Amino acid sequence: MDPERPVCVPGCSCAVGNEFGEATAEREAARYRRSGPEATTRLLVDALRGGPLGDLNGLTVLDIGAGVGAAHLALLAAGAASAVDVDGSPAFVEVARTEAERQRVSDRVHYETGDFVELAPRIEPADLVVLDRVVCCYPDMRALVGLSAAHARRRYGLVYPRDSWWIRSGAALINGTMRLFRRRLRFFSHRTADVEDVVLSAGLTRRFHRQQLFWQIAVFERS
Ligand SMILES: C[S@@+](CC[C@H](N)C(=O)[O-])C[C@H]1O[C@@H](n2cnc3c(N)ncnc32)[C@H](O)[C@@H]1O
Repeated sequence: MDPERPVCVPGCSCAVGNEFGEATAEREAARYRRSGPEATTRLLVDALRGGPLGDLNGLTVLDIGAGVGAAHLALLAAGAASAVDVDGSPAFVEVARTEAERQRVSDRVHYETGDFVELAPRIEPADLVVLDRVVCCYPDMRALVGLSAAHARRRYGLVYPRDSWWIRSGAALINGTMRLFRRRLRFFSHRTADVEDVVLSAGLTRRFHRQQLFWQIAVFERS
């Protein structure tokens, strides 16, 4: 495994390559069952529902880096017809499957385990594509965002770290510490303008943007 490959915001349970496989996935699933989706996920789902799309009835969802599946489970509850969950972590795919069974929607979700950038050519486009706290987990932002935005037929939603000097400094500090302890964990922070450039080049326009202390939430639309 490439030591520069993985990824995750510490505390966010990312597990590409299964570095924090089952224990982290189980912990995150327990947190989800206790408290439901994160506030940023709820905001993302509301923004994806907003405007003329309304109730989402019949729309398809592609949830890349789904984790326990909070985003696509909320979109299914809001009326979406079906979802594809693509995650690099087999442990997270397993907990997402269990959670979908618990919510009795597993017949509406299809699972793919692997790196979306590699799987993209054989993944069907969807009406709604979401990457909830995933862009900060992947070394090649342009490939991940470019390929995923191209898969969005109607709307494209992102939750990713804010573009600020203190987050970039924090990232450098975290990554330095990780290297020192020979951990594969890395945190990637990107300029908002660079991320948006890639999304706009895929033919989408921004329709919603909100900044919080650490995260920003953005929804784009294909007109
Ligand atoms: C920080 S977690 C976020 C999980 C979930 N979306 C959430 O917000 O709770 C990042 C997830 O993205 C997955 N991931 C990161 N890069 C990926 C890629 N290129 N393809 C597929 N999954 C990826 C990781 O395995 C992990 O489950």
